[in-house]
Amino acid sequence: MRDKYRPQFHFTPEKNWMNDPNGLVYYNGEYHLFYQYHPHGTTWGPMHWGHAVSGDLVRWEHRPVALAADEHGEIFSGSAVVDWQDTSGFFGGKPGLVAIFTHHRNPDSDGGRPVERQSLAYSGDFGRTWTKYEGNPVLADGSRTDYRDPKVFWHEPTKRWNLILASGQTVCIYYSPNLKDWTFASEFGEGEGAHLGVWECPDLFELPVDGDETRTKWVMFVSVGSSPEHPEGSRTQYFIGSFDGTVFRNENAPETVLWLDYGRDNYAGVSWSDVPAEDGRRIYIGWMSNWKYAQVTPTESWRSAMTVPRALSLRSGGERVTLTQQPVRELERLRTEVYQWRDHILGEGGNPLSGMRLGCFEMIAEFESGEADEFGFKVRASDARETVLGYDTRKQELFVDRTRSGEAGFHEGFPGRHAAKLELRENRLRLHILVDTSSVEVFGGDGEAVITDLIFPESEDQELVVYTKGGSAKLLFLDIFPLQSIRDE
Ligand code: FRU
Repeated sequence: MRDKYRPQFHFTPEKNWMNDPNGLVYYNGEYHLFYQYHPHGTTWGPMHWGHAVSGDLVRWEHRPVALAADEHGEIFSGSAVVDWQDTSGFFGGKPGLVAIFTHHRNPDSDGGRPVERQSLAYSGDFGRTWTKYEGNPVLADGSRTDYRDPKVFWHEPTKRWNLILASGQTVCIYYSPNLKDWTFASEFGEGEGAHLGVWECPDLFELPVDGDETRTKWVMFVSVGSSPEHPEGSRTQYFIGSFDGTVFRNENAPETVLWLDYGRDNYAGVSWSDVPAEDGRRIYIGWMSNWKYAQVTPTESWRSAMTVPRALSLRSGGERVTLTQQPVRELERLRTEVYQWRDHILGEGGNPLSGMRLGCFEMIAEFESGEADEFGFKVRASDARETVLGYDTRKQELFVDRTRSGEAGFHEGFPGRHAAKLELRENRLRLHILVDTSSVEVFGGDGEAVITDLIFPESEDQELVVYTKGGSAKLLFLDIFPLQSIRDE
């Protein structure tokens, strides 16, 4: 069947290969999504920036390729900002968009090193056309080999631009008055957090704690590359601390490792720049795949999707301040109907949802844990296949088990069970779940435990089961929303 795994409400390239989100910026009523793109094949190849725009983060309009290779190399990951004050001088005093990306050049000879330097492109027509800056590259350091993925933001207290990029297994921070001339400020990361692979795609932004704008902290994202000895493959960690325009200080113990997602398929996520202050959200999107097997997933004309866009918050309480995430509220527009259950005692073996058939849908549920060892849902199920989204009451963990989810033999690292620690609150568990043609995203609690996993079920695997094991549990409420497709096929 044609395109049986094509997601219905996640962003995918029309055809060919995609990886990291790039150049996320909001300007003039539009969210821009650029992305690492290989326009001539369905595996990774010479990198371009693909481009799409959206008025609502839900429906995307595909645009032509924005940036292609030139004499400095291929176009690797990077960011974009609105240069409101024309600090760059590109726009004759008006505002405009500036993209800051890595120019990657392969080694000239065997045994040589690749060259990675940072460059600029600008657009005075709302991102429709781009001009590369004739002074490229603007930032280089010959002593560093992996030196890429610049994320730029305006730091209001110092009234300067900051740039953070990944360098081997640290990040380097720079500042600039004009986006063209960069001064080294500091390096962070040695001995801090996880070093299981090369560091990539950092981000750094400020968030209020518990919504209190007078109490803020800085969050750093660092994606950690795949390495053969770690089954998890590529994933993203985060740090929480302070930042003064020059130095980032991690407020947790250096050995503390905080993961953004406990599934396998959320990598290289970064946040949108210039979301208006009256909106106030910090929204990010991740690449919904894993370098372990990304190039062999069983799709044909296209390969890879993005996660849904997610809004980030910081919550205090417990032993430390925690990052939480939730799907953006705009996705509610895709809801067509609602099916509701209230106060239902669940026993072993029964399934009150047995009549339902669902392919692409959202669920919000709250359980009260009883005697059960385990409870939860089986989605995209049939006699032969199922993906389990469960809670283990003894281990106090949320998990997704995709062992029997469908096509899984394309890579030995694909099948498996992925878990996240999550304590019940007043004996209750809240779940927000998004299921698409080839993915599940589970937000546990307030979104402090998140699992994003690809699955490849058959189109007819549409049964839905709510289950318990080893005793009863109570389903306090369940709202199921079938979701409309964003694809106009
Ligand atoms: C992360 C990454 C980046 C790089 C890009 C190349 O997935 O390896 O570090 O810029 O992909 O496509």
